[in-house]
Amino acid sequence: MSQKLLLDVDPGNDDAIALFIALGSDEVDLVGVTTVMGNTTIENTTENALTLLQYVDRTDVPVARGASRPLADELETAEHVHGPGGLPEEVRADLPECSTTPIDTHAVDFIIEQAREHGDDLTIAAVGPQTNLALALAKEPALPEMVGDIYQMGGALKTTGNVTPQASFNFYADAPAAARVVQDGRPKVVGLDVTEHVYVDTEDIRALAEEPAPLSTMASILEFSIEEVRSKFGHDGGLASDAVVLADIVNDALEFEEAYVEIDTTGGPSNGATIYDEHGVYEQSPNCEVALGVDGERYAQTVLESLRSFGE
Ligand code: RIB
Ligand code: CA
Repeated sequence: MSQKLLLDVDPGNDDAIALFIALGSDEVDLVGVTTVMGNTTIENTTENALTLLQYVDRTDVPVARGASRPLADELETAEHVHGPGGLPEEVRADLPECSTTPIDTHAVDFIIEQAREHGDDLTIAAVGPQTNLALALAKEPALPEMVGDIYQMGGALKTTGNVTPQASFNFYADAPAAARVVQDGRPKVVGLDVTEHVYVDTEDIRALAEEPAPLSTMASILEFSIEEVRSKFGHDGGLASDAVVLADIVNDALEFEEAYVEIDTTGGPSNGATIYDEHGVYEQSPNCEVALGVDGERYAQTVLESLRSFGE
């Protein structure tokens, strides 16, 4: 039986791949998408989410617009990474003009509504800045007890950050929100320790690019990171951090350990850093689970099988 999933996104290239995996997998019933600012503005992330769903004929999936700014700081987008408006121009050229609109319900209320409707059948995965989820937890503190798993994509436990040496983008973009979700949400934290070390091989991306749309467009999204992966990690492939979360939801690709984690919200050079108490120095009970192991082959298989399902 497929599990119900609510995906909170800031598309964003890897958000798009995560969305396609959710739509393409028989293991998941996507009950809705909530959008948050992050990789680009809330206007763009919302339009991108609507357009991506329209592109694969899934406008049946409701989209609820969410937070337009971080809880405390000013938004610093990642358009320099993902492209103007949050997606590469060569990808946007394949997409239709957006002709749908978000539902009237705000993302925070939609998260709570879906939790009340589906209970512990529902998995929530927040793969952008954690603002919507933090606000939902503030409004409904019982959320973790109401639903199944809550996933956070973010953090750099024992590895280097990608927006500063200490912090990953999602936790840096809204550190107070990330801190609240770690403190209140009993999340499964999926950080760069696993997401930046698994790839879809370039030859598989090139093969996908030879297929008719929408597969060729999906290949373009994966291709966008090949240069960064080659220069930063010396590997010949594409990465999609958010898709690693879906690979666990769909195919148990990750290994988790209980841990006590704090997020640096002091605003200094390590703002947004994940303080992972690996050796129990704080003598605190665990407040989350952290992903420390990943099956790279299972990840790549999940991505490719889910994307290829759109060509069947
Ligand atoms: O650090 C990677 C995360 O930041 C991903 O969610 C990506 O979409 C960006 O939001
Ligand atoms: Ca994202």
